This record gives sequence, C-alpha cells and structure tokens, in this order.
Amino acid sequence: MTSPGGPAAGRPAAVIAGVGASLPPLVVTNRQVIERGGLDTTAEWIASRTGIHRRRLAAFDVSTGDLATAAARAALDSAALDPAGPRPDLLLLATTTPDRPCPATAPEVAHRLGLGPVPAFDLAAVCSGFLYALTTAAALLRSGTCRAPLVVAAEKYSAIIDPLDRDTAPLFGDAAAAVLLRRGDPTEPGALLETDWGSDGAGSDLITVAGGGTRLPGSGGLRREERYFRMRGRPVYAHAVRRMAASAATVLATTGWHPGDVRAFIGHQANQRILDAVADRLGIAPQHRFGNIREVGNTAGASVPLALADAAARGVCPPGAPTLLTAFGGGLTWASATLLWPDVTVRTAAPQARPHHLDPKEVGTP
Ligand code: UT7
Repeated sequence: MTSPGGPAAGRPAAVIAGVGASLPPLVVTNRQVIERGGLDTTAEWIASRTGIHRRRLAAFDVSTGDLATAAARAALDSAALDPAGPRPDLLLLATTTPDRPCPATAPEVAHRLGLGPVPAFDLAAVCSGFLYALTTAAALLRSGTCRAPLVVAAEKYSAIIDPLDRDTAPLFGDAAAAVLLRRGDPTEPGALLETDWGSDGAGSDLITVAGGGTRLPGSGGLRREERYFRMRGRPVYAHAVRRMAASAATVLATTGWHPGDVRAFIGHQANQRILDAVADRLGIAPQHRFGNIREVGNTAGASVPLALADAAARGVCPPGAPTLLTAFGGGLTWASATLLWPDVTVRTAAPQARPHHLDPKEVGTP
C-alpha cells in the first residue's frame, strides 16, 4: 500500500538532517559462531550462501536501549542541532528485541537523551521496522503533529538467537542506527519522497519467537524452539525476493522514477543473494547497490539505516542522488521508500551499558 500525502500533495517534506549508528566493538567471525554452537556447517558455506563473513555482538550487559541511545545521540550530533532550530519532539524506536516486554524502551531512551517529555514509543515490524517507523514519523511530521521526529532502529538479536541453531545463529548481529528528520523541501538532499508498506499475517509462523507473549506465556516453562527465534529460511527467502521487488517497483512508480534513475539501492541486509535477486529483478545496475552485510550480518530492524549510515560515511553518492530503500521481515511485513541522498556527516558511537539505577548524570542535555 502506498501511503498518501507525500510531497506531491503539496505538503512539506520530511528531510533527513542527521544520521547516527552504533555497533558493539566485539567482532565475531563465522568460524567463531560455528565453534561457539558446535554447528554442523562451515565458514565457507555461510559466506557463500549469505554473503556474511562477520558480525558484531553486544556484551551481556549492553541492551537494545543502550544501542539505541548511542545511535540516537550520534544522529543528534550528526544533525549538529541549530540551537534556534526545532528540538527533537518525538522518538520512535523500531525494535523486536525491546529491553523488556513492558514498558516500551523508547521513553527511557528519550529520557537518557534529555529530550524532555516528548512522546516516545516502540514499533515492532521486525526487519521492516526502520522503514515502518520512517513512514510513520514522516506522516506525523507532514500532518504537523511533530516537527523533528527522531527515528531509531535498534536490535540485540544475540539475546533471542539460539547459538545451537545452524539455520539462524550465523545470520544475525547486533546494532542500532538513527535518523533525525526535519521539515524541508521535497527537492533538497535528504527529502523523503514516497513510501510503500504492507503486511501478510498468513505468513506469521515463518519468522517467530513463539513464547513469552500472551499466547504462550514465558512463565509456563518453554521448550527451546519456543524460547528462541526461529525462521523457515527457504519460504522466507522466496517471500523476501518477491515482496521487496514488488514493493520497490510500486514506490518507484509512485515517485515517477524508472529503475535506471536510481543511483543508490539499499535493501534489507538479510542475504546477499536475496539482495542481488531483488536488484536484478528491478534492473538496478551493480554499481548502484550498497550494503554492509559482509561485515555486520543481518541486524534486523537496524539493517537498512545501518547500511545507509555506512554508505553515507563512505561518501558513495553525491547529496541529492535518487535513492531507493526496501525491506522485508517477519509478520510478514515489507516496506520501501524513495528519497534524495542526504547531505550529512554520519556520526557513530559505541554503546554504553546503562547503570542499574539510572544516574541523573547519565541524562544528556540536548
Ligand atoms: O531478516 C528477515 C528475512 N530473512 C531472510 O530473508 C532470510 C531468508 N533465508 C535465507 O537467507 C536462506 O534461506 C538461508 C541463509 C537461511 C539458507 O540458505 P539457502 O541456500 O536458502 O538454504 P535452504 O534454505 O535452501 O536450505 C538448504 C539446506 C537445508 O537442508 P535440507 O533441508 O536441504 O537438508 C538447510 O537445513 O541448507 C541447510 N542449511 C545449512 N547448511 C549448512 C541451513 N543453514 C545451513 C548452514 N550450514 N548454516
């Protein structure tokens, strides 16, 4: 479904004013993942079938909220907020690995950033999380509900991955990334142009953490398959290619772009073969495809903005270049967006574990 009310409707655009990212320092190679779980696979199999060579894993005491706080701080730093400009007035956190089931992680992140009493909430759309959150935040901005939403995507999948599961343990990594939006013109670098999003709950059993919710409460003593993340790789693969290609084609058509116009294509970093298949279907040339799956693996909801941050830090595109983002994940969910490549200096920050009791000194001043 294409969301209406984009810049074509004569409203101000949501413009990316700052980009930040946070990666835990610990690098774990394919060989180390295999040794840790005693997995019946090889480093070569993982690299050749997925494109993943290593990933970052957060320390035991570092949470999704810690990653989110670091990435959000970095995004604010990147935006180098004009003291006279709008302060972040909404925080949206895309995650399916929240710090706890209740309350949401976002309000604590907003508090640690010193944002004051802004609305803050979590949004769960698995690997489509960032693009769902971006779509939501941009719509709220265009409607006048907020002026400078901070969109954060953060995941600690190492907390829900079964180290003994060959099918999933090699795939995922931990990370966070964030963008600060501001009101602007649809012709300027960083302007979000059109979005497309959708879901298909008929596939809700293909990617799951089955236990811990109301259907299968955690207190009942869960089996291993219910406690940990599980994915049926083959059907997910087929859905991922089909859904991302269709959604991306839709958003390109709405924008009025041909695939040949796209100068930067960034897809959800789940599997290099999926990314190549989507880009091939769309007809996007290899030199316009960017990603960092080799170094960070699949970081779920954080994957698309993390790849965007990586590509922007490397200066792969001139500001204003036509850009296509697309994602697919559990739910099933998918989403795509067109934008003009942002004119930003990307900042990164290492996550800091939150002290057990939140220290007032830890709370930032924006
Ligand atoms: O982030 C959300 C979206 N996620 C995705 O889009 C991921 C989608 N799926 C995939 O990326 C791929 O399906 C995998 C990487 C998970 C698997 O790669 P594949 O080349 O598609 O393998 P497959 O699913 O076709 O399975 C082939 C075989 C299976 O064994 P059988 O059933 O043929 O006996 C798997 O059990 O490969 C097996 N397999 C492995 N073998 C060695 C699965 N993982 C491994 C492994 N090492 N690590």
